[in-house]
Amino acid sequence: MQSNLAMFPTAGIVEKSTQTEKRTVTKYDRAEQQFIELLAAEDLDNILDVEAEKVNEFERILSNAIRAAYRDDCGDMQAHRFLQRILYRINRLKLFWYDDLQNYTNERSLYLYSCRNQIEAAWQDWELTQIDVRALKQLDVKQALIERSSNDLDPPLSENSKYIREEMTEAGYRHLLAIASLDGLVEGSRLARILGGAANEVQCTLVRVLLEEYGNGRLSRKHSTFFAQMLSEFGMNTQPEGYFDLVPWEVLACSNHNFLLTERKRHFLRYNGGLTYFEIAGPGAYKNYLTAAQRLGLSEAAMGYWELHIKEDERHGQWMLDDVALPLAEQYPDHAWELVLGYDQEKLMGDRAAQAVVQSIRKSE
Ligand SMILES: [Fe+2]
Ligand SMILES: [Fe+2]
Repeated sequence: MQSNLAMFPTAGIVEKSTQTEKRTVTKYDRAEQQFIELLAAEDLDNILDVEAEKVNEFERILSNAIRAAYRDDCGDMQAHRFLQRILYRINRLKLFWYDDLQNYTNERSLYLYSCRNQIEAAWQDWELTQIDVRALKQLDVKQALIERSSNDLDPPLSENSKYIREEMTEAGYRHLLAIASLDGLVEGSRLARILGGAANEVQCTLVRVLLEEYGNGRLSRKHSTFFAQMLSEFGMNTQPEGYFDLVPWEVLACSNHNFLLTERKRHFLRYNGGLTYFEIAGPGAYKNYLTAAQRLGLSEAAMGYWELHIKEDERHGQWMLDDVALPLAEQYPDHAWELVLGYDQEKLMGDRAAQAVVQSIRKSE
């Protein structure tokens, strides 16, 4: 049985292991390795004293990293990377990976909870400092959502978009797929976590979005299948998380943010504001990738996922705005601004991730 945890160090074909081997083993690499060992330990909460040396060393590095990452506007990049990787390794236990059941032994560990909360608290405060929350609270929420959505549906081409459309090579395209596969191969999974509960029109719309993401229960039509087909076209690894080591921290931050918002019902409005942006802005980004694939003369299967999303996400975006975000704004007038916060944060973090991905692609080329 395949263990995804064991697979993390093998990044795959894009950056061969030689590069990883040459990389200096930093204190963060060592601390992450220690954390992986703790994660796999049987009954972690009850053996913390036995593992005291490892635990203390990990916690020392963790505290240092939190200080280094969030001390100012940008912070130390290696610290960001370390923290987002640790957080991701904890959060991913919320999903099932069809691997060794033993990998979930510490799913409810209080120690893991405390590590997660420590990182999340500092990180989320830092993210919020980049948004003018007070101004958001003054907005006419419905009008703000409608205006933002119409602007983001078909935005002017950025420098990064032009680069992807006009310059990115086939090697760059493969690198893009490798990074995007972290989400693409399990897409829609976190949405699944918010669907349970009382029935109403909002809930039913969210279910409808999920059903389409999940191919209405047919594996061949599931969006992640289209992503796997793109990878297969290049003989790339189709295992989820197969390219974990290539993923910039800015992309991991988007996943971790999503985990936080879907796991806490208090953030229900914020999550739905974020998903509204995600579905509305999707087609614009996918059109860039599709244009690049067509310019490179790639096969239909090597671009199928983008094509599918350009059609479906236009619909999903409209559903999210009309049948989820606006009705929620009416139902929760005092907290409706949180929908806009979610929307704006998703955009901010998404743009930051896109910038990091393009940088990583340029480097790989
Ligand atoms: Fe999708
Ligand atoms: Fe979608």
